[in-house]
Amino acid sequence: MNGNMIIKNAAELVTCSGFAAKKGPEMAELHIIPDGAVVIREGIIEAVGTTQEVEKKLSKSATDLSEFDTIDARNKAVLPGFVDSHTHFIFGGYRAEEFAWRLRGDSYMDIMKRGGGIASTVQATRAASANELLQAGIKRLDSMLSFGVTTVEGKSGYGLDKDTEIKQLEVINHLDGIHYLDIVPTFLGAHAVPEAFKGREDDFIDYLIDAVLPQVVERNLAQYCDVFCEKNVFSVSQSKRLLTSARELGLKIKLHADEIVQLGGAELAAELHATSADHLLQASDDGIRQMARADVIATLLPATAFSLKEPYARGRFIIDSGCAVALATDFNPGSCFSESIPLIFALATLYMGITTEEAVSALTINSAAALDRADTIGSIDVAKQGDLVVLEYPSYKYIPYHVGVNTVDKVVKKGNLVFDKEKGGMRYC
Ligand code: NIG
Ligand code: FE
Repeated sequence: MNGNMIIKNAAELVTCSGFAAKKGPEMAELHIIPDGAVVIREGIIEAVGTTQEVEKKLSKSATDLSEFDTIDARNKAVLPGFVDSHTHFIFGGYRAEEFAWRLRGDSYMDIMKRGGGIASTVQATRAASANELLQAGIKRLDSMLSFGVTTVEGKSGYGLDKDTEIKQLEVINHLDGIHYLDIVPTFLGAHAVPEAFKGREDDFIDYLIDAVLPQVVERNLAQYCDVFCEKNVFSVSQSKRLLTSARELGLKIKLHADEIVQLGGAELAAELHATSADHLLQASDDGIRQMARADVIATLLPATAFSLKEPYARGRFIIDSGCAVALATDFNPGSCFSESIPLIFALATLYMGITTEEAVSALTINSAAALDRADTIGSIDVAKQGDLVVLEYPSYKYIPYHVGVNTVDKVVKKGNLVFDKEKGGMRYC
């Protein structure tokens, strides 16, 4: 595991080349190299081109090939590793009962109002030890990796008190150190109003600003601050207050915006120049246009709309309005208990008017940009991290076509082969 890898003879090398989010029509450009090859040295991409070009370069530079692992990707497509830029993967307990209630007609918000939903996961997460959360987290990350995800964002938000929020963030940071996946930690203390603060939402925002955020920042436990800006949760002005304070302390910001009710979350994201606004099922036309002008990434989460039986976000309209769209799973124990990347591709392409090319950009370079990492991941470009996915098929077009099924054959992380379906899955070192 030295991070030295040569991948050659790829039927399609889908580079998604670029160092910033792709907006509007740019999302359709994948910059494909037929018969492509990549050289990764010590985890960093050193050369990209056709197999012939890359082999010529290698022989000229007298590279010692015995120091490199080689993957022959004949008849296979190679893409950048997928980036899942919105998840809540650290939590205690499950909510299978709640899923059954929803099948019988209860709404997500009804369940939340009567004390279920996020509150029940909060109870279970408070009760869980850090080690229990860690062990569950490893399993979930392993599963994500098998779907080709090489970087994931993970939120707190199932503590709603200082100790548990910090426990969650510590676990996320620990996992970043021990697991192959890179993890971007997000502080989501304002995920719901805890019992002790019911009816005193402003006081809870004060508590987060005064007692929790400073510790999170001081201990470098998060890179982002997020908030559930929603009717009956946190208002636009409460969200603004929290996000402004978080930014002053040095965190980047993103929001759960206009998921269930059109509240003005998209407009707030534009006003604050947030990195991303996520969900957007109910976002107004004007809010979307403001986001496009302010370079806020629209992160769409189709598996959540699917699981909640809500109308999908207007993917086509949002791209045509000039926004950069990212796609993510929203993996969590309530509204979307799925880390499935094939499901995201299926829903985005079949139900949201998003083309396969746009969906690929949305899960690679644009989701990297939604984590402010488009300079180091999200595309196959020289000097970026060597995070790649090899498909079982010769083209990226098979991803949504083989509907709902995992088409990933191999995953390369920082130049090391870490998942190989042909060899029975995960490779541990
Ligand atoms: O993104 N909307 C708020 N938060 C999550 C759901 C979390 C949960 O239900 O546990 C979401 O859908
Ligand atoms: Fe979410």
